[in-house]
Amino acid sequence: MRITVRDIRAMKTRGEPIPMLTAYDTPTARLLDQAGVPILLVGDSVGMVVLGYEDTTRVTMADMIHHVQAVVRGSARACIVADMPFMSYTVSVERAVENAGRLIQEAGAQAVKLEGGTTVAEIIRRVVAAGIPVMGHVGLTPQQVLNFGGYRVQGRSLADAEAVLRDAIAVEAAGAFAIVLECIPSELAGLVTETLSIPTIGIGAGPACDGQVQVIHDLVGWLPDFTPKHAKRYAELGAAMRSAAEQYLADVRGKQFPGPEHGWSLDESVRRALKDRIAAIRAGQ
Ligand code: KIV
Repeated sequence: MRITVRDIRAMKTRGEPIPMLTAYDTPTARLLDQAGVPILLVGDSVGMVVLGYEDTTRVTMADMIHHVQAVVRGSARACIVADMPFMSYTVSVERAVENAGRLIQEAGAQAVKLEGGTTVAEIIRRVVAAGIPVMGHVGLTPQQVLNFGGYRVQGRSLADAEAVLRDAIAVEAAGAFAIVLECIPSELAGLVTETLSIPTIGIGAGPACDGQVQVIHDLVGWLPDFTPKHAKRYAELGAAMRSAAEQYLADVRGKQFPGPEHGWSLDESVRRALKDRIAAIRAGQ
């Protein structure tokens, strides 16, 4: 039985911190599920982290469905939250409901996440009314990168902080079951967390949030050339993979790999009989 959005809300009531990590493929989802991560987010960060896009605006519904299906196949217990990609929920409310439905019905997610506050409140309301749990996302909303002109901490001035708070309140009032707070000052995240009854899940939003989310690649050092300020590296997978590839190259070039233990042998009588047939086979007999 998977963790439900009701279980996640109950964690806030109990004061139990809520960890969330991204996953984009089956083996990663399996490991994180086995580790006990209660929420796996198939973030549209897949575009930058896995697919090599410059930002998340290139990610499509087809990309998301493909990766959500892989994560669902690799997990048994975690609640799977699927990001709604750029342009999949802002063209019309009908398109938003239809696309959210595809992430649930075709891909197998338990909930969707979409970015924005007051401007998407009606969309959240209609998606929730269709029976689809919604996680909100305010503060730094990466799908607005072209408008923002880069990735910047949000909510530093009084006016900007109030806008973030208003957005969070609008998302809760629209029926979201939880909300991501991305890259806002810790004190503001604390105020939002106190104000809302739904769980806040922070990324670059300090320790006062009800939960924390990170991109798995940042956590394990899979993309070693860049670690955002808000991330902590718990492993050096990128360096380990590179070193494994270098050792493999050296082994293949030095004829150290494969060894007898990596293959299967042919009975000597079969080998000899086959060798005797080479000339006949060449002659087409
Ligand atoms: O796409 C993503 O990975 C996200 C998290 C950073 C919250 O939205």
